[in-house]
Amino acid sequence: MKNIVILISGGGSNMGAIVKAAQRENWAAKYQARVAVVISNKADAKGLALAAQHGIATESLDHKTFASRDAFDAALMQRIDRYATPGNPPLVLLAGFMRILTPGFVNHYAGRLVNIHPSLLPAFPGLHTHQRAIDAGCQVAGATVHLVTPELDHGPILAQAVVPVLPGDTAEALAARVLTQEHLIYPRAVENLLQKK
Ligand code: GAR
Repeated sequence: MKNIVILISGGGSNMGAIVKAAQRENWAAKYQARVAVVISNKADAKGLALAAQHGIATESLDHKTFASRDAFDAALMQRIDRYATPGNPPLVLLAGFMRILTPGFVNHYAGRLVNIHPSLLPAFPGLHTHQRAIDAGCQVAGATVHLVTPELDHGPILAQAVVPVLPGDTAEALAARVLTQEHLIYPRAVENLLQKK
């Protein structure tokens, strides 16, 4: 069985979409893969309760209790690697995980570390993507699922979804429109990866 580890920091709606797809579509039988655990860097992340409702194990690891980014990433790596099975390293999905990861961490999971970012990369890496798209006068916005490389919000694109930016849009309205698409493309992109392996 291949274990999928999902890292979150907040509401976890993308995590929920992936968990539901995995359960509904029986990824265990189809791909010998299952979402094994959801790990948050915030103990009060709402997504932890959501994961538990779906019967998924949860853990939290508070980055504030570590002296350095390296120390946190090393501890996180240790937690994740407990989910390795013989010949089967875990697939690690960032789903609203709001931490910059060190190159050591990223390289350790090269090719099996995936992120979803709420913009049409390579446009608008970083934060406040929706407001920046509105301010730039973009007529379309969207989301990108990509393999993670050491450079923030870069790396090979696995899937994208496009939505219109509507007249009078606020960042919140645009974010909600993009998020519904995120919930569609992230599970499909993960499924494509599982199919290839
Ligand atoms: C999503 O919009 C995701 O694309 C974004 O955070 C939100 C998390 O929502 N991720 C980033 O901004 C990463 N830089 P969720 O917790 O409900 O899935």
